[in-house]
Amino acid sequence: MEPLRLGVLVSGSGSNLQAILDAIRKKRLDATVCLVVSNQPKALAIERARRAGVATAIVNHKDYDSREAFDRALVTKMREAKVQWVVLAGFMRLLTPTFLEAFPHRVLNIHPALLPSFPGINAQQQALDYGVRVSGCTVHLVDSGTDTGPILAQSVVDVRADDTVDTLSARILAREHVLFPKVLQWIAQGRVHIMASNGSSGRVLVQLDGVRASVGVAGAR
Ligand code: GAR
Repeated sequence: MEPLRLGVLVSGSGSNLQAILDAIRKKRLDATVCLVVSNQPKALAIERARRAGVATAIVNHKDYDSREAFDRALVTKMREAKVQWVVLAGFMRLLTPTFLEAFPHRVLNIHPALLPSFPGINAQQQALDYGVRVSGCTVHLVDSGTDTGPILAQSVVDVRADDTVDTLSARILAREHVLFPKVLQWIAQGRVHIMASNGSSGRVLVQLDGVRASVGVAGAR
């Protein structure tokens, strides 16, 4: 099978991008990162991509009048690079249907909490404020809601009594770096099937190896 052609959207430090690039280099992920696009001109993620010899582009949301116009520019870049799947790796903008309809059920996000708990920003702080005893990370398909799309996999992290946002975020991030490449490899291997359910609910069903996702990944430690 041809390597999966990935386009990665980033806004920040890009440690998840790095984990994906490292997994490809170590032949644990049968994929190619065709393009990395950042909405933040100074994102460290762009530097990481350049160091790995990956094509980069800056598409600054501040240069566009509307979310749709920004999304159209992103779609153009992704199409030019012949991207099959779009990976949101710390991308801090909401995508509109303009983008999502160009890559139907082909946009994947990682979120630093066990969805549907604590969507949106500052997920780790939300978890600490609520007082949950476990949190973690979630890989899911992106829909037009905020962190609401179908879940593919999750990894659970204990919340410790002395955790701060920084300590909890670091432990979750370490899990993200294992989980995200793992799920992408499932996709590269053709093990993930996505289908619209019967009827008018509009729900999308995700299967891994013919069994309904989501999947708690014990091996993601
Ligand atoms: C990660 O923790 C990721 O889950 C989170 O931002 C961080 C990016 O780190 N994403 C979100 O909160 C998206 N809603 P990175 O830039 O080092 O990969």
